[in-house]
Amino acid sequence: MIAYLNGNFMAIEACSISPLDRGFLFGDSAYEVLPVYDKIIFRAHEHLKRLDYSLGCIEIKNPYTHQRWNEIFSQLIARSGLSDLFIYLQVSRGSAPQRTHLPPDNIEPTVFVMSAPLPHLSEETTQSGVSAILVDDIRWHRCDIKSTNLLANVLLSIQADSHATHEAIMMRDEKVTEGVASNVFIVNNGSLSTPAVSHRLLSGITRRAVIEIAQQRKINCLEQDITKEQLLCADEVWLTSSTRNILAVTRIDKHPIGSGVPGPMWQQFSDAMMQLSQ
Ligand code: PDD
Repeated sequence: MIAYLNGNFMAIEACSISPLDRGFLFGDSAYEVLPVYDKIIFRAHEHLKRLDYSLGCIEIKNPYTHQRWNEIFSQLIARSGLSDLFIYLQVSRGSAPQRTHLPPDNIEPTVFVMSAPLPHLSEETTQSGVSAILVDDIRWHRCDIKSTNLLANVLLSIQADSHATHEAIMMRDEKVTEGVASNVFIVNNGSLSTPAVSHRLLSGITRRAVIEIAQQRKINCLEQDITKEQLLCADEVWLTSSTRNILAVTRIDKHPIGSGVPGPMWQQFSDAMMQLSQ
């Protein structure tokens, strides 16, 4: 697989990053995951705007213009030999001569980009929906930043997996925030709800696309708090993310959601997302 590191394209095995890189030592970096369908990036501009936002929040200057990023993406897509894939990019604050929490003034960001096949979810899994567990949101208070500080997400993913479930859905102050790597929607009586964007969750690009589909179809979509009871009693629950599109959750902890199978709204929005990304 071809990757890009600090100005050069190379085999991923040839990439080498200093152990003093602050991304490695402190998780001092931001990232993006961009889905590519039929060699076309879905909403590249939105992902690059979110990268600007994340880097701005952590006071790292974006080293490249959007045009330069897009050129790198095009090369990686062309060299990947794949039609459907995702692009992962990471910008760290860079590597400094010493390990100190305070970064030095003159430090060059490290830029790493790679492409990889989209994770495969079988048709059977997609059509039967997935299960999830409900957990406390143990993350920091700036979940709006797409930072590589993902230890809490990793631990909660391990927990979800140990319960043989697909995702952990997190709650803070008795309100749903998001999935460990996804946003959450519920459907009730034909209306959608999703938690409003705040420091508690990532402003997902797929989430935004779902809200736009609802607007186009004149389907009510409220950005509001969701309680545990509302989640468990919803007609439908969905997870949205760049690598999994819209996925129906049909069981949370021991509770079946709705009729225990993906609902008609999921089918409708899933089809609409397919059309958008073609
Ligand atoms: N994660 N919330 C969190 C915590 C996420 O990590 C993600 C995506 C989302 C959905 O955002 P989007 O629709 O823009 O992908 C929400 C990516 C896919 C990842 O970390 O691999």
